[in-house]
Amino acid sequence: MNQTMVSEDNAPLRKMLRPIVRALRTAYIQGTSVVKLMPSERAIQLYYKYRRKSYDLQWAMDPGYKKGLRQLVDLAVDADDRVLDVGCGTGSATVVAATKAREVVGIDLSPDMIELAQEKVEKKCLGNTRFIATSVEDYRPDGKYDTVISSFMIPHVKPSLRPAIYSCMYNFLKPGGAVGLFASRGEVCDVYETRSEIEENLHWAGFCDVELLDVYDIYRIALARKPATPEE
Ligand SMILES: C[S@@+](CC[C@H](N)C(=O)[O-])C[C@H]1O[C@@H](n2cnc3c(N)ncnc32)[C@H](O)[C@@H]1O
Repeated sequence: MNQTMVSEDNAPLRKMLRPIVRALRTAYIQGTSVVKLMPSERAIQLYYKYRRKSYDLQWAMDPGYKKGLRQLVDLAVDADDRVLDVGCGTGSATVVAATKAREVVGIDLSPDMIELAQEKVEKKCLGNTRFIATSVEDYRPDGKYDTVISSFMIPHVKPSLRPAIYSCMYNFLKPGGAVGLFASRGEVCDVYETRSEIEENLHWAGFCDVELLDVYDIYRIALARKPATPEE
């Protein structure tokens, strides 16, 4: 199983085992429905306080997740960008972005997850990165960003409140700035957004040029842009 989970290439054995990998990914992602049982910020913080140690280990079992995060950063982040990672958790996307961008700020509701993210950054000597323990709703940035990225945070937000979260992301950006999102698909598990939901929510918040890319069986990258001028 390790080999199949470790490579996406088309060697015959791996090709044969692809349906199993897909089924395992689907079963795992359906387990993330547990976020429905977290009705408040306090509940989310408590969950990650105890879950944080196993968090990275669990995701490390699926290279599709890591590759997807890299693809997100490749597509959304430019070299001179000031980047915000919303719901950064243990900093998996933050550290990838930090190897490319000028400056990266990670925000997260859970101080426990941020503690692990901070350790990662120190280990990698990434001096251009810092973290702030805050909810996205309460965050007041000290300046606008070129790019906002967010991975697997949206499923924690009730569907009716998602447009408002995208609106926060929109406000964090400079005109012409980019948003890049990574998560699973509502077509696979109902805590995630379907193609039409994500398009609708991003447009509602004011984003344009929405592009969706389905990758690695169950994952989806969404890219969009804040118009450079009000008329655009
Ligand atoms: C599933 S984890 C994803 C972490 C990381 N982005 C990743 O891809 O591994 C979701 C994270 O979102 C954070 N979160 C949930 N709701 C949030 C909110 N309203 N504001 C900021 N962070 C939030 C949680 O604390 C948690 O660390």
